[in-house]
Amino acid sequence: MRRPIIAGNWKMFKTRAETSAFFDALIPAIQNVDHCDIVVASPFTALATAVEEAEGTRVAISAQNVHWEKEGAFTGEVSVRMIAETGCTYTIIGHSERRQYFGETDETVEKKVQTAINGGLKAIACVGEVLAERDAGQAVEVVRRQVRQGLGRLTQANLSHIIIAYEPVWAIGTGRTATPDIAAEMHAEIRKTFAEIYNAAAADALRILYGGSVKPDNISALMKKEDIDGALVGGASLDPASFAAIIKYL
Ligand code: PGA
Repeated sequence: MRRPIIAGNWKMFKTRAETSAFFDALIPAIQNVDHCDIVVASPFTALATAVEEAEGTRVAISAQNVHWEKEGAFTGEVSVRMIAETGCTYTIIGHSERRQYFGETDETVEKKVQTAINGGLKAIACVGEVLAERDAGQAVEVVRRQVRQGLGRLTQANLSHIIIAYEPVWAIGTGRTATPDIAAEMHAEIRKTFAEIYNAAAADALRILYGGSVKPDNISALMKKEDIDGALVGGASLDPASFAAIIKYL
């Protein structure tokens, strides 16, 4: 029922020229794909180029962050209107790197998600525990708190504009993927939490992506799990051949 999504998160990689070269290679490689939605999150500076390159294809373009205010004296920040003007239709919010290195919290995630939705973007909202929390047996509790405090006060109508990405921080960029069982277990917990806050139907409709060292050789096993609706791919999304292989996980 839920349409799968494969999303690439380029982080702080790729100039505009590199973005064009990526799409020149990716688009022919995924021409016949229609089993999933495809999203590429480029840096702000390459958004317009990415939108242009992806025009008329199945690929949607995402930003990686947005400010929660509409505009104002916030040097170095980018507003939702600026992002939407490029033709970009998604933004990632609350990625663990934003939480770890740039002080983002459940509170800023909540504000940013609301602003993104009000501005017409779909939000890919990230949650996930750090290694010490998993080792201490607190992973579920931490992620449930992130869901409740960051995403639990949206209206039910808003819920259809968000996609959740569960990204255990210990699996990001480490080559240490969560096993499909570990990932699926947390996805079920996340869905259960949304069912408690909203209702079963709303939770069932929600798409929950897994992120953390997703590669062409582990994507199929992850996608076989019922509660895993797709992937947010970092490192392996930078190379068009490996990203195409992940998109063609079937
Ligand atoms: P990774 O990154 O695939 O390189 O582990 C995932 C992410 O941070 O979104």
